[in-house]
Amino acid sequence: MSITVNSERNLFILSTDNTVYVFQIVCGKFPVHLYYGKKIDTEIADYKCRPVSFAPFYREYGFSYLPDSCLSEYVGFDSGDYRTSSLKIRNSNGDRTTILTYKGYNIIDGHPEIKGLPYAEADDRTNTLEIIMSDETAGVDVSLYYTVFEREDVISRYVKVRNVGDVDITVEKCMSLILDLPDHNYDMISLYGGYGYERKYQRVPLHYGSQSIFSRRGFSSPHFNPFIALCRTGADEENGDVYGFNFVYSGNFLDEVEVDGIGYTRVQIGIGSENFSWKLEKGEAFESPEAVMTFSSKGIGKMTRNFHRFIRSHILPPEPFDRRPVVLNTWEACYFNINENEVLRFAEAAASTGIDMLVMDDGWFGKRNNDRAGLGDWYENRDKFSNGLKSFVDKVKSYGIKFGIWIEPEMVNPDSDLYRAHPEWCIACKNRVMMESRNQYVLDLGNPAVLDYLKDSFSKVFNGVGIDYFKWDANRHLSQVGSYILPPDRQGETAHRYMLGLYELYRWFRGHFPNAMIENCSGGGGRYDLGMMKYSTMIWVSDNTNPEPRAKIQYSSSLAYPVGVMSCHVTNNKKCEDPREMQYRFNVALGGALGYELHLPNASEEIKDVVRKQVQEYRKYEDVIINGDYYSLSNPFENNYSAFYYADDKFAHILLYFIQCNPEEPRKLNMRVLGADPDAVYIDEISGKQYKGDELRSGIIVSTENSENNSKLWYLVRK
Ligand code: DGJ
Repeated sequence: MSITVNSERNLFILSTDNTVYVFQIVCGKFPVHLYYGKKIDTEIADYKCRPVSFAPFYREYGFSYLPDSCLSEYVGFDSGDYRTSSLKIRNSNGDRTTILTYKGYNIIDGHPEIKGLPYAEADDRTNTLEIIMSDETAGVDVSLYYTVFEREDVISRYVKVRNVGDVDITVEKCMSLILDLPDHNYDMISLYGGYGYERKYQRVPLHYGSQSIFSRRGFSSPHFNPFIALCRTGADEENGDVYGFNFVYSGNFLDEVEVDGIGYTRVQIGIGSENFSWKLEKGEAFESPEAVMTFSSKGIGKMTRNFHRFIRSHILPPEPFDRRPVVLNTWEACYFNINENEVLRFAEAAASTGIDMLVMDDGWFGKRNNDRAGLGDWYENRDKFSNGLKSFVDKVKSYGIKFGIWIEPEMVNPDSDLYRAHPEWCIACKNRVMMESRNQYVLDLGNPAVLDYLKDSFSKVFNGVGIDYFKWDANRHLSQVGSYILPPDRQGETAHRYMLGLYELYRWFRGHFPNAMIENCSGGGGRYDLGMMKYSTMIWVSDNTNPEPRAKIQYSSSLAYPVGVMSCHVTNNKKCEDPREMQYRFNVALGGALGYELHLPNASEEIKDVVRKQVQEYRKYEDVIINGDYYSLSNPFENNYSAFYYADDKFAHILLYFIQCNPEEPRKLNMRVLGADPDAVYIDEISGKQYKGDELRSGIIVSTENSENNSKLWYLVRK
């Protein structure tokens, strides 16, 4: 059993295969955190008060419990703990003091439903601990949920706040996860960036004070990713203690890491509270999104693999097809200039090269001839598709391939029938001018009428058409965040209600088109998060498809998310006439799930032949790429080259890569395949060369060239 309770000592012990998490109810009232890390003898765990001056305490308990100097499991506001709080409730007196005390616990099989939100699916070994707390003065009961995923060494947390009093209250801050650590000798890894340069890697030592990453954009966004890690100073890929954290949510977030004056570290993950409040009437409840954490005593690589396995087993939707389709997408070749005849040329070219699916990108609907019009009007443009969508899709499928289509359901152009009919359906603050971004506004998905309109429009245009794949795009963030349908004291709920509406729409798509898969996109990889991964099999990593920056984006995306989620397309029409460049771009695209975005109908026979061979080659590797374990051998942000390998469960197949991210002085590199079985012999199916396992473990030497297009691939199959 992953959850044990020692009632004599009021200890709660959560165990995974390699880690243990322990806390204690002190004075019968206060949950105090004791330990999270590799397995230890939990019998020795006990709270010892650390006396500090200027710390408030209860006369009744004296120094048996000092909130300001203990490690805590969840912290109210103004509770005698001066560090950042987890929960802040404005009560009927108008103050925000929130002090929680322990009432009891339950152990639940599996994972309770979090209403309206994505959350991790349970398996046969998943259990949840509920700790019930209350603040009678504020009139709330608060449940803390801890779900234990034993196999993957992951523990998730979320919180439910119930108004059990007689009057309305307002939740002003509600974090999902808190982890207090007794020192601060850690580096923090986080991913920052923007459009076209998503998820740049940074690793910096913790300093005293607060260090946070966040989104206030209504989207998780490309500016910061919700994933962070704390690594022991000096920890590397294979060695050292590492904690990883993430958030199963796609909207505003706050990852707060605070080191206080005595050197303790508090990590919190939750909804960003700058533009958040939630009114609770008598009897109502608010549930936070789920946050997840993992611990590795074997370096960053093990943290990565814990998260990869967890996301594959508990977050991602089931694969709808026997094998992941290789797609040809029209965007970079055509932009908005599409019509039936042109796109059918792409379908023919795709089929002739062994590509499985044609994805028709933007430009097929309403008056969508550029990005200034049409969003919101979800019917086919009859000037471009005179016989209608169904007849066109039937023709595409007559080539023996699948069909995918681009949508951007959340948005509306001012120049659209929808906006002219319903300007009040947009996210907007009354009496303020709305700001545009990419000539568009955001629809208020918290408004049920908007969701009904979208479901109705998409049913009309897609029912019976046989769509196999939706590329779901979203090309602006929220601003002037308000809703026409909410009263003034609920305006702070707009952004989270938007997310609840968005998730409802995703669930509707999955239910209504159960055989279709969803690729998520937000101007590239602007919503690369676990909330989206619950519904989307793949995510478009970035609009930046130049191989060197792309290899870096892929490296940092793979730190916390499975590589099979990444849509990796071979692109660039001009250079694609050069087979060497094509091979380089293909090698980079093998960092994830392969696709193409180039003018294949106009390509030479030589290039078509290259594509044909690449698709066949990818078929050999795809299983180990999509389902294998990922090991990074070089961080391109530190070394200017990327080297990594995938290995399947039994290490029968190892796919090893080297990609130079910058032309540089030639050097010799030693790439150690640590997962290789020392007693086995492997054959590289590409060169025919044999390697002993122990030889692979001590390293393959690669000579880099002083040139572009420098990459190499080994496909090592156990003899
Ligand atoms: C932004 C996406 O990232 C592109 O791939 C493409 O789908 C365009 N939007 C279409 O407008």
